[in-house]
Amino acid sequence: MKKLSILFIALAMIATSCGDKKKEDVKKDVEQVKEEVVKEEVVKETTTTDTASDKDTQIAMGKKLFTDKTCTTCHALDTKVIGPSLKDIIKIYEEKDANIVKFLKGNADAIVDTDPGQVAIMKANLDGFVKDMSAEELQALSAYMRDAGK
Ligand code: HEC
Repeated sequence: MKKLSILFIALAMIATSCGDKKKEDVKKDVEQVKEEVVKEEVVKETTTTDTASDKDTQIAMGKKLFTDKTCTTCHALDTKVIGPSLKDIIKIYEEKDANIVKFLKGNADAIVDTDPGQVAIMKANLDGFVKDMSAEELQALSAYMRDAGK
């Protein structure tokens, strides 16, 4: 009888300790998830502020490139010069959710003015020097065009 009750107590202890352990594990898991969520929020916030200031620098860089690389010879803000205006370009790129960088790299067809003669003029620029620009420069050009033409 004594043996039985000891066994019972032992079993009861194991059972409760197991239960406690599980509860603790769950608590730990919850805490970990909470921590991760907090971390994610912090990361999100810093990226947003980073991008905000990065974005201004990128736009400024794009604006300079747009002049330096002679884009302004054919593209004005809201009137057609030789090429379509920035406003016309951005309107269509926004509507079609298209990628300017991809076009500048020569990896996407023209969607703004598809007249073959017009496309050839722009294509000469892409083949001539645009394709040699760095990814960073192309991103900057795209950021500037989107900002100015919106
Ligand atoms: C010699 C004139 C000329 C110059 C310089 C020029 N473009 Fe163009 N661009 C055009 C013409 C013409 C079109 C219309 C054809 C077309 O849409 O591809 C065009 C179209 C575009 C389009 C719209 C493409 C589409 O999807 O239809 C973008 C974006 C563009 N140019 C960006 C630039 C940038 C950036 C530069 C400077 C690196 C530049 N262009 C320099 C003449 C020019």
